[in-house]
Amino acid sequence: MMRSFIIILTGYFLITQTCSVARPDHSLTETGTNLLPADGKISFEKQVLPIMVKNCSPCHFTGGKMYELLPFDKDTTIIRHGEKILGRIKNGEENSILKAFLLQNKNGSPQ
Ligand code: HEC
Repeated sequence: MMRSFIIILTGYFLITQTCSVARPDHSLTETGTNLLPADGKISFEKQVLPIMVKNCSPCHFTGGKMYELLPFDKDTTIIRHGEKILGRIKNGEENSILKAFLLQNKNGSPQ
């Protein structure tokens, strides 16, 4: 009798303890890998390139028919044709990342 009471008690604590562990707040981080960084600096490789690959493959990437004229794996292409490319990226979040990247590289050489 005492043993089953202890088992039930242990089970009760196990359940309540594990379930009450504070969950990290994901509300600000779960929108994807392309989140704007805290310091506002956009990385071409980490943030812009995935957007281009997702939307503009295969034509503007290696082996695609537009790769020679407009290769989108080069930040210089994106910077040079900024406005036109921006007009074709319709997703709001992706569009703002690209916009921030273009602003960042407006007065200076691309990194
Ligand atoms: C199915 C193949 C294909 C895909 C996918 C594609 N393009 Fe193109 N793109 C072309 C071709 C072909 C041309 C040249 C003919 C033309 O201007 O339409 C071109 C030309 C362009 C030009 C220069 C012409 C202009 O409007 O001044 C830009 C800028 C451009 N693409 C951006 C994009 C962007 C941004 C994406 C992704 C959102 C994309 N393309 C996806 C095939 C593609």
